[in-house]
Amino acid sequence: MLDTIIDIRGLSLVYGTGERRNVVLDALDLDVVRGEVLVIVGESGVGKSTLLRVLMDLSRPSGGTVEIHARPDCRTPMAMVFQDARLLPWRRVIDNVAFGLEGSGLSRAQRRARAHAMLGLVGLADFGDRWPHQLSGGQRQRVAIARALAVEPDVLLMDEPFSALDSFTREGLQDELQRITQETGKTVLFVTHDIDEAVTIADRVVVIAGPPGRIAAEVRIDLPRPRIRRDAALQEIARQLRAELSRRSADL
Ligand SMILES: Nc1ncnc2c1ncn2[C@@H]1O[C@H](COP(=O)(O)OP(=O)(O)O)[C@@H](O)[C@H]1O
Ligand SMILES: [Mg+2]
Repeated sequence: MLDTIIDIRGLSLVYGTGERRNVVLDALDLDVVRGEVLVIVGESGVGKSTLLRVLMDLSRPSGGTVEIHARPDCRTPMAMVFQDARLLPWRRVIDNVAFGLEGSGLSRAQRRARAHAMLGLVGLADFGDRWPHQLSGGQRQRVAIARALAVEPDVLLMDEPFSALDSFTREGLQDELQRITQETGKTVLFVTHDIDEAVTIADRVVVIAGPPGRIAAEVRIDLPRPRIRRDAALQEIARQLRAELSRRSADL
């Protein structure tokens, strides 16, 4: 049986009341299976970030249920990576990565050891002593990924984490993320509006259309990794997803 880690049923989220009433998510059902990379695509404003905020417990649903089946010994069910790295400029890279471990009961040496291991995982083993301003945009995002992984979350949430990067760096990080998820088996919920990015990294892609946001289509991608971007089968899936997205927005 599939091991469901996130189970969302009939989720709705409404901001405001009266004339300001804005139904952002409506009757959304979604489950995430442990160990999969699930990518959510959808146009701007359909509620992708709102969905992640609900999972982070930063927004309260107006209706429906959200169940998170974290490991019993899990300290942090979810950790998030945003479009901008949000590093603390007055802390060295290693201390940024170790930041989330403060108050965890680990000693300073243990925190630094784990932070160092995470920097190694994202290919920045020698960058711990640098300051954030001494890094490129892509390196800063790697640090943000290391910081998120350091707290050993059950699920890594990523909200358009590569969208602000140039296409060369973006594709490099997509490849890195594939390697990291293969090495760690981490469950990832990744939001993007870039279809090529989605099909490159996903085990499964879900299309959210709206507003109000709801699941409009789903496709499983069983192609080998690392994915070859020009692969005909991959391009065909991307074509279908694009058609689905434009059809859904035309329906609204
Ligand atoms: N705190 C908030 N209060 C009111 N409306 C909000 C708030 N946050 C987001 N929204 C609205 O919710 C909708 C979905 O936003 P968002 O989840 O950021 O979309 P996406 O990430 O798909 O671009 C938008 O119409 C946005 O204006
Ligand atoms: Mg967003």
